[in-house]
Amino acid sequence: MKIFVSNDISEKGVALLREHFDVDVMPNMKPEELIKVINNYDGLVTRSMTKVTKEVIEASTRLKVIGRAGVGVDNIDIPAATAKGIVVLNTPEGNTMAATEHTVAMMMAMTRHIPQAHQSIQEGKWDRKSFDGIQVQGKTLGIIGVGRIGSRVAKRMQAMEMTTIGYDPYITEERAHQVGVELVDFDTLLAKSDYITIHTPLTKETEKMLNAEAIAKMKDGVRIVNCARGGCMDPEAIAEGVKSGKIAGAAIDVYPTEPLTKENNPFLGLFNVVQTPHLGASTIEAQIGVAVDVAYGVIDALEGRPVMTA
Ligand code: NAD
Ligand code: MLT
Repeated sequence: MKIFVSNDISEKGVALLREHFDVDVMPNMKPEELIKVINNYDGLVTRSMTKVTKEVIEASTRLKVIGRAGVGVDNIDIPAATAKGIVVLNTPEGNTMAATEHTVAMMMAMTRHIPQAHQSIQEGKWDRKSFDGIQVQGKTLGIIGVGRIGSRVAKRMQAMEMTTIGYDPYITEERAHQVGVELVDFDTLLAKSDYITIHTPLTKETEKMLNAEAIAKMKDGVRIVNCARGGCMDPEAIAEGVKSGKIAGAAIDVYPTEPLTKENNPFLGLFNVVQTPHLGASTIEAQIGVAVDVAYGVIDALEGRPVMTA
């Protein structure tokens, strides 16, 4: 059987796959290119950059499994895959800690203007006046989506003496209590939080959840973090909020359209915004973790053993 790996994944995962199958690795293929080759393969392994559209899926009569080396499966047309009997699996655990730690790092970098101060000192300046921040101690962190990453972010920020509240209609009070999060409704979270961090999947419900209407209900001087999915926010509304001073800071890792360019980056030149190019999962440990997990999943699926679908 043959596997197509359409994004860079750790060599450890590719090596595992090669023990069982013929493997071709060709990163960063556009859907129209993928359509031309997909019918040669029984399995497809992707990260988030590959869009596995309905057209890609329908171009294949041979594909049996799509493995996502990561959490979000919003780049895969799951209904189209299911209709063709193709198994879609992901690796929900492999990059949880990486994304958690990146969220904490982004929150602190934004709060203390670390990237801006670094840039300043690199330019030969000794400016101790322009980078005053605040303390997170004693502030309220509102977590939208108290799942794997949201709950771990909660634990870490509790250690920094933040109060953690959460909005997640799909978890129990008991689970929230276990991770020290007080569950509240969405509007209460918006009204009470000094910091808001989102950790939901991108779904119809969460699309543009952080929009102008939501921002209007937030505290003046709120700080926002998005290391989940770009589609969960309206970037223009957040940029407007920063410009008006309503939002004191934003830390953004993900974007509705990736890769982000100078032309479609609404945060360009905004001092109070810290940005990274979708680096939440970019640690050595996480990349090995997701590559190995996805390889085992694809091997199991193609060798007829039960797998956990996405
Ligand atoms: P998870 O499934 O463990 O947790 C998601 C939580 O969101 C769940 O508790 C769920 O109940 C909740 N939720 C779903 N719909 C909701 C809604 N409408 N309102 C409020 N809560 C809702 O997922 P996770 O592993 O914690 O991942 C969270 C997000 O982070 C995903 O979007 C994932 O793709 C993204 N992610 C990003 C990176 C990165 O590189 N930046 C890395 C890993 C994961
Ligand atoms: C994920 O959903 O796993 C992350 O966004 C990381 C990635 O796509 O590599």
